[in-house]
Amino acid sequence: MRIACYFPAQMDSGPWLEAIKTRMPFQADVEAWHPNSPAADYAVAWQPAQAFFDAQPRLKAIFAAGAGVDALLALKLPEGVPVFRLEDAGMAAQMAEYIAFAALRHYREFDRYEAHAAQGNWVRHPPRPLGDYPVGLLGYGVLGQPVARALQSLGFAVHAWARTQRSPAGLRLFSGSAGLSEFLNATRILVCMLPLTAQTQDIICRKTLEQLKPGAYFINVARGRHVVEDDLLEALNNGQLAGATLDVCRDEPAPAGHPFWNHPKILLTPHIAATTLLDEAVAQIVANIDALERGNEASGRVDRRLGY
Ligand code: NAP
Ligand code: GLV
Repeated sequence: MRIACYFPAQMDSGPWLEAIKTRMPFQADVEAWHPNSPAADYAVAWQPAQAFFDAQPRLKAIFAAGAGVDALLALKLPEGVPVFRLEDAGMAAQMAEYIAFAALRHYREFDRYEAHAAQGNWVRHPPRPLGDYPVGLLGYGVLGQPVARALQSLGFAVHAWARTQRSPAGLRLFSGSAGLSEFLNATRILVCMLPLTAQTQDIICRKTLEQLKPGAYFINVARGRHVVEDDLLEALNNGQLAGATLDVCRDEPAPAGHPFWNHPKILLTPHIAATTLLDEAVAQIVANIDALERGNEASGRVDRRLGY
């Protein structure tokens, strides 16, 4: 069995190849792909080049080394080959930490106290009722569900929006375009955890931001292309939004001089809300290859038609 891997330079492929080889229950040649590599049975990839797939005529499956598959599905992939993505693999806990931090920082006004401290001002503000800060999660999937539980455990009222309608215990779920306005009207802290698809691109725009409760706050841990950046800046500048914590931008890294870098109402982080963890990711990918080789179902299959 041959497994071809493609990782961007910052991921350091060496430990990945070693871990996959060590854990694989079958004898496998595991190698970092190069243009003269022989064709492989399985591909493990993050942000691969098109040339990687052009050189793979006999793949049995493609594994994304992350949760989102928008960059992968934007390529011309071999027809009919199943694509699998990571499910949680240690990312849900990181997401919960990041979003809880951003929501608490806003609601408890830690950003305001940081600014006071920088000026040497000992100023106290009256406490704000947590009930005035309902959180709306755009996306209630593998990562959204544990994030909802983490926020609820801190006392936040949480509701969510998804594509398919169902009635989960302990949370109001809105769905589809029909449910979006009601979801937004009920939201003070908006969190984007959607996959980037043709349906969700540019979803954060003037029309959606205007429907949030006044003085709303926006947290984006999904993809930069969910956001019309000029509309977001306008909402921040006209006071419709109190602030934003952004882990992603349309172009990454955010270019020098981009208005997000120095905006007083924006906290920008470099796409670190939930990082792929090598051990957890490799365990999941190896278990899935093992399942496929034994003729069993593998988990985390992407619906290539829906885009997630
Ligand atoms: P997931 O399990 O596939 O969940 C996606 C959720 O979005 C589901 O609830 C789905 O609805 C909903 N959704 C999809 N299309 C929709 C539409 N058109 N309208 C309404 N709801 C829609 O994905 P996940 O594992 O939670 O990951 C979510 C995203 O997080 C990833 O795609 C990735 O972009 C991002 N991410 C970012 C980082 C980071 O560090 N910043 C790290 C990991 C992941 P249904 O439940 O009805 O299917
Ligand atoms: C990171 O952004 C991921 O999708 O895993």
